[in-house]
Amino acid sequence: MSVSIKTAREIELMRHAGKLLEQVHDELKAMIQPGITTWDIDHKGEEIIRSFGCVPNFLHYNGYPASICVSVNDEIVHGIPSKKHYLKEGDIVSLDAGLIYQGYHSDAARTHAVGEVSEEAKKLMKVTEESFFEGIKFAKAGHHLHEISAAIGNYAESFGYGVVRDLCGHGIGTSLHEDPQIPNFACKSRGIRLQPGMTLAIEPMINSGRPDVVWLDDDWTVVTEDETLSSHYENTVLITEGEPEILTLSR
Ligand code: MF3
Ligand code: CO
Repeated sequence: MSVSIKTAREIELMRHAGKLLEQVHDELKAMIQPGITTWDIDHKGEEIIRSFGCVPNFLHYNGYPASICVSVNDEIVHGIPSKKHYLKEGDIVSLDAGLIYQGYHSDAARTHAVGEVSEEAKKLMKVTEESFFEGIKFAKAGHHLHEISAAIGNYAESFGYGVVRDLCGHGIGTSLHEDPQIPNFACKSRGIRLQPGMTLAIEPMINSGRPDVVWLDDDWTVVTEDETLSSHYENTVLITEGEPEILTLSR
């Protein structure tokens, strides 16, 4: 396993890739409402990414047919946008997007409510987001990777949620997926020692029911086996000497 350490120049490019992706998410969030299709979201997302002179990194990745992964309700990740799939009041929809800016990748996911959603759905989305922030408390030089993993998983499990184990976060840089893999649950090993200049896509996927997943026949869509709701939250994060820098979120 080799984990790349980005130079100052590379970090500048990753920062910019992150900022642009945040803008993509902001614009997509604004369009979420009952009656649009999941294809509308993909179409708009690709249009925005290309308007920045960037390339959507998910498009054709291992044959994935779209630019934005749109996953509704019990779909965990990698939902394929469709002109026939209309969002309806009460759905939750996760948008996973990424782009390449001057050779450098960014990757981030958000889960949104469509209109008014159940208290159960709101809580799941909130806890998923919070689990990310619990995790990055340990995203600092000198800590070990699996401290992040354990913090995410233990937090989500304390609410009785199922933490998806079949999919992980990942390093990111000149490729979408670089070493290391980043589990969202406590591991026996402590994982690599974190160093400044590492860039990591940290992405908890949390189910309101059990953690088990099923891959659909479309070869992509991953759903919860028990058909309960699932939420996804992801940012590209830079390890520094001090606090982590979230490249896809400015607060
Ligand atoms: N954020 C996801 C990941 O990190 C999306 C990539 S899957 C793709 O794996 F195939 F659609 F690109
Ligand atoms: Co990712």
